[in-house]
Amino acid sequence: MSQYILGIETSCDETAAAVYHQERGIQSNVLYSQMGLHRQFGGVVPEIASRSHIEKIGMIVQKALDDAQLELEAIETIAVTNKPGLPGSLLVGLCFAKGIAWALHKNIIGINHLEGHIFSPYLEYRPPFPHMCLSASGGHTALYLVHDFGQYTLLGQTLDDAAGEAFDKVAKLMNLAYPGGPLIEKLAHQVDFHDFYHYPRGQRKTLDFSFSGLKTAVLYDLIKNNAYDMKTKQFIALEPLQTQQKVASSLLVCIKDIFVHKLEYALELHPSIKAVTFVGGVACNNYIKSCLDLLCKQRNISFFAPSARYCTDNAAMIALVGSYKAQRNQYDTLALDIFE
Ligand code: KG4
Ligand code: ZN
Repeated sequence: MSQYILGIETSCDETAAAVYHQERGIQSNVLYSQMGLHRQFGGVVPEIASRSHIEKIGMIVQKALDDAQLELEAIETIAVTNKPGLPGSLLVGLCFAKGIAWALHKNIIGINHLEGHIFSPYLEYRPPFPHMCLSASGGHTALYLVHDFGQYTLLGQTLDDAAGEAFDKVAKLMNLAYPGGPLIEKLAHQVDFHDFYHYPRGQRKTLDFSFSGLKTAVLYDLIKNNAYDMKTKQFIALEPLQTQQKVASSLLVCIKDIFVHKLEYALELHPSIKAVTFVGGVACNNYIKSCLDLLCKQRNISFFAPSARYCTDNAAMIALVGSYKAQRNQYDTLALDIFE
């Protein structure tokens, strides 16, 4: 018999809850973003993140139930992110989930956040199996071969920074607010996504990624153009908007090219693949999305990217993974723990 799953996600700086029905899909999807709290620090502060999760989680879970017009009694299973993420943040979600599961005799399932992103397209679409998944966010960047629900093989991943991290770090260099990705896209759009500086693309014939050199390349260029003072660590462009636009645009085109090259190589190695998905926070980027879509069209491959609300961290994707695990009786016990 189909059941309602309550998803809880607190792995980083979003307190999120959602209700998913095994036949009818998403019933509610609620999120409190802590972005405003962390902005002044230029990145997520773990201690502030866990404190804020504690404050908000009860309210957010209640709102997810209210939006779905359900009482907690109607929920059979709680799916909660238990890895990977900030330990303090993960613990808040897990302890809250365990509390409900213990008190009201609910099933509990620990969910891998990355698996949530991989299967997030199924909240709206039905990509065929097997397919290739490019997952890119502030914490991870990886390529997977996805065989079925819950079955996937890692083809390559970042050896250092994540793609979103590259956007965030370069934005910080130029005194732009956190998170940098959306601002970089906006600035790049103003100069028509032109490649001014041609930053290094890295090695082509590997499915692993490396983005840490990009920040150094940008910094080097800024210093060379007298746009950055190493002593004060301040962005000092004479024409700040123009410099920001040029750097933003060149960075975005560079990261797009890296993605295109990796996908081309991965598809060359796996010629039978007929679908590609693009997930994670960076998949909000319309420019990258349209370039990847074009690449797939030229190869007669279907392309799927979730709506922005399911690209960035959310609990709907966690509940969805919980749903197919529940169907397979893959429940956990209250001994469930977190893993960084
Ligand atoms: O998936 P997500 O919400 O959190 C993590 O799991 O990390 O992704 C956040 C990341 C940030 O690094 C942010 O800069 C990036 O996604 N991002 C974008 C865009 N919107 C968010 N990157 C590029 N272009 C965007 N429009
Ligand atoms: Zn994420």
